[in-house]
Amino acid sequence: MTKKLRMAALLLSAALFSQPATAEDGADAGAPGAGDPERGRVLADSCLGCHGIEGNMTTYPPYHVPRLGGQNANYIVKALKGYASDDRAHEGMHAQAADLSEQNLRDIAAWFSGQATVEANADATPPESGIYCMSCHGVNGVSITTEFPHLAGQHADYMHETIRQYLEGERSDISMNAFLNLLTDEQLDELVQYYASQPGLATAKR
Ligand code: HEC
Ligand code: HEC
Repeated sequence: MTKKLRMAALLLSAALFSQPATAEDGADAGAPGAGDPERGRVLADSCLGCHGIEGNMTTYPPYHVPRLGGQNANYIVKALKGYASDDRAHEGMHAQAADLSEQNLRDIAAWFSGQATVEANADATPPESGIYCMSCHGVNGVSITTEFPHLAGQHADYMHETIRQYLEGERSDISMNAFLNLLTDEQLDELVQYYASQPGLATAKR
């Protein structure tokens, strides 16, 4: 990957994605405070029937339930708020997320996040089209801010399903659509397989 290409991708994303990092990004952001993983462990118990079973799949359409172990806490909070507010259309997760208080969200997110350490694999060589993704998701799927999801080690079929959801408007976050629209199905599949093969996220364990 040349420096020039990297720069082009950065500029492209800066133009499309102008939401700056806020004070809330920090783990010790203001009220209602950072998450307490010990409280989170108890609260997350009901989630593990789906998220705590290695290889667990949804019924229809069939895809793996996403790995949450090591995922960014701020992203987990954002995703859960997305399901609660119907920015994300998934009905099953809407029911799970709808009644969680801000503090409970943060506690649960802190626990899942602490389940694994996601570190960049310095030897990784992404496919060429990775330049469209790395300005947010990093060279190897280890994302550059805690607001963005790590993709390293996530299930490939789940990532394909999310890409379909973004493109068809079932997830309303527009950060990615401009990039996804530039790529062919083959390029997207290559990227998804690459991210899924990186060391990273894990299935959470009790
Ligand atoms: C009945 C099974 C089930 C239960 C119980 C469940 N989830 Fe989920 N969860 C899913 C599925 C399936 C998805 C993927 C939905 C989609 O396609 O957007 C998901 C997605 C998520 C995501 C988004 C992950 C990502 O990478 O974007 C988060 C965060 C999450 N769940 C947290 C929780 C928490 C916290 C609980 C408990 C309060 C919970 N889930 C309970 C099945 C479940
Ligand atoms: C401008 C920043 C940005 C760029 C560039 C970007 N993404 Fe994303 N991506 C995000 C954000 C933010 C989310 C979470 C959005 C939400 O809340 O639903 C996301 C979510 C995802 C998800 C779903 C993850 C999950 O756990 O549910 C996948 C898969 C993904 N991106 C793949 C890609 C691919 C492949 C590319 C390159 C073609 C790409 N992204 C480029 C910011 C970006």
